[in-house]
Amino acid sequence: MLPTPFNESSLKHAVRWLRDGYLVAFPTETVYGLGADATNDEAVRAIYHTKGRPSNNPIIVHVADRVMAERYAIFDERAAHIADSLWCDALTLILPVRAGSVSPHILAGGKTIAVRAPKHDLAQALIRAFDGGIAAPSANRSGNISPTLAAHVLEEFAQHHGALRMILDGGHTHRGLESTVLDCTSEQLHILRAGSLDAAYIEAVTGHSCSFFAHDASSLLPSPGLLTSHYAPSCAVRLHATTLKHGEALLAFGAYDHMMGIEHACAVRNLSETGDLDEAAFHLYEWLRVLDHHRPSCIAVMPIPYDGVGKAINDRLQRASAPRTV
Ligand code: TXA
Ligand code: MG
Repeated sequence: MLPTPFNESSLKHAVRWLRDGYLVAFPTETVYGLGADATNDEAVRAIYHTKGRPSNNPIIVHVADRVMAERYAIFDERAAHIADSLWCDALTLILPVRAGSVSPHILAGGKTIAVRAPKHDLAQALIRAFDGGIAAPSANRSGNISPTLAAHVLEEFAQHHGALRMILDGGHTHRGLESTVLDCTSEQLHILRAGSLDAAYIEAVTGHSCSFFAHDASSLLPSPGLLTSHYAPSCAVRLHATTLKHGEALLAFGAYDHMMGIEHACAVRNLSETGDLDEAAFHLYEWLRVLDHHRPSCIAVMPIPYDGVGKAINDRLQRASAPRTV
């Protein structure tokens, strides 16, 4: 199953696979998604099975716009204003679910639903041609690095493609990091997952303040994708590196020639030579995969500022470096 170029014929095929209850991987502006008909129990179960995803981790439903989102989620005035101000873009809203509108497996036992309208022509064309919500987590095996190229999706599922029938190729995703997940179900807006849209931008555009959800270990996890090792290459990852050891690969940010031990590096990739955080987000997952392929003892990552999307980059790198649970 090689990635298929996008055209009228492949779009028609993709819609047919979705209607028949199979999975289709497709590009969005953030990362590639592993899509299924959000109303089809079997198809949604196949997402969990194909990804190896724990059944307590709910799935985002992708819609064309707010009108379509209202089929599945209940918007109050504030949520409608946020969607109208920021969609289509890399923002996922957590809202009360419209009872019975989607397969219960999407909700993983909860009463809320995650909806997002992607800013990507191909994703939009697919959703509109399908004329319904497409459930899609990132198109990687659970715990692995999210895919930013169709070739990454193929790499993830080459051994175990389950119900996946088609990978629509849209080239490199534009942003490279997942959407920001914003919980709109309580008075205070909470960011459950840092992502491509940073908090200050969301606040400035919507006029609502948002705080990061502070997880208390004794409470139920609001967004299960938040904890444990995640977004991880197969080798170890070491953060805030200022020197290099023998056999390590370097994930650089800015100038690195001066780095002590640089001659020991088995491979180097630079997230951004000029220190541009958007460019770093674009390259992050691809460079982690490339460096991992060199089989280094460890990927050493230079410090990355916590400004803007740098917060989400650091969040992903922290999870990539966390002790592995599997
Ligand atoms: O950019 C993205 O968001 C990509 C593209 C494909 O859209 N999708 C993505 O999906 O990253 P996934 O499944 O890898 O991550 C979705 C996150 C998970 O952390 C999940 O726990 C959380 O959203 N989530 C989904 N439904 C939720 C809900 N009802 N309440 C709280 N968190 C939810
Ligand atoms: Mg994911």
